[in-house]
Amino acid sequence: MTQLIDLSKEDAKEYGTGLVTFQHHLRESGLFEDDKLAELIEKTPREFYMITHMNVEGKKTIWRNGDFNGLSGKQVIEAIKTGQLWLCLRGFEQVAPEYHTLMEAAFAQVDEVTPHVKTNRSQSHLLISSPNASVLYHTDIPIIHHWHIRGKKRFYLWEETNKTTLPDSTLEKVILRETEEEIPYDKQWDKFAKIIDLEPGISCTWPQNGPHKVDNLDGLNVSVVAEYFTPQAKRKYGVYYANGYMRNYLGMSPKSTKTEGLTAYAKCALALAVKKLKLTKSKERDMILSFYLDPKNIGNIINLKNEDQKPIIQL
Ligand SMILES: [Fe+2]
Repeated sequence: MTQLIDLSKEDAKEYGTGLVTFQHHLRESGLFEDDKLAELIEKTPREFYMITHMNVEGKKTIWRNGDFNGLSGKQVIEAIKTGQLWLCLRGFEQVAPEYHTLMEAAFAQVDEVTPHVKTNRSQSHLLISSPNASVLYHTDIPIIHHWHIRGKKRFYLWEETNKTTLPDSTLEKVILRETEEEIPYDKQWDKFAKIIDLEPGISCTWPQNGPHKVDNLDGLNVSVVAEYFTPQAKRKYGVYYANGYMRNYLGMSPKSTKTEGLTAYAKCALALAVKKLKLTKSKERDMILSFYLDPKNIGNIINLKNEDQKPIIQL
């Protein structure tokens, strides 16, 4: 079998709980060059992609969701190279089995050196973003495994346990999906961020909910990303979900964020019940189509009037 990763058991000890970085060889598959990416874009149906535009208005960066508008795969790549765009393609298993097979093989090799980790990994998705794009300070709900393949980006990571940079109430709102994953941020915090320069061929995973931001530095940025939960990560999710529900819906002020013990298990049961009954559903946010890629000026977008905007259905 082709060796896709350079990771020893020793270096993988903190996989699932800490920051782990290592070299990988996904690019050697040839699947991440422009022509292959263009093919992948063309065969990805609407419900499996999300294209986002970033725009600075005053002090605020606005993220909006759009549509390819019939552009060819090649044109979409050109638009990302020149614009301020960020594309996420999903559904490898259904749409592009060659990518699915490659990532299954890569993760099988990760599993070999992480026998201590039980994961429940989601399918991988592909991210393609503009050379000068940024991803604002945010936190992700599951643990993330990021395989960087092309371009350069600077990754700033903060401690998930720091209550100044990530207050419990903020994480709860993210977990309840009541807020965008972008959260309050202060430029001063950059001083104590861990900085990781992601060069092509670097793979990394970091502690669950570790807040981070990303500045692309050079070239078209291409990465594959997968999400995963370990049993401990699932309990943390359950505890914060339940705490958020108690704080926002029942007027309580839960303090404990322990993920072990009877209370933690009771909170996980509450989280499951709330989710099942869809008690928080009405506050969850929708993804709204608000622009089309411009076929005449590649890299530009055509904004939709309010009355033409509509929800984007994703699978
Ligand atoms: Fe993220």
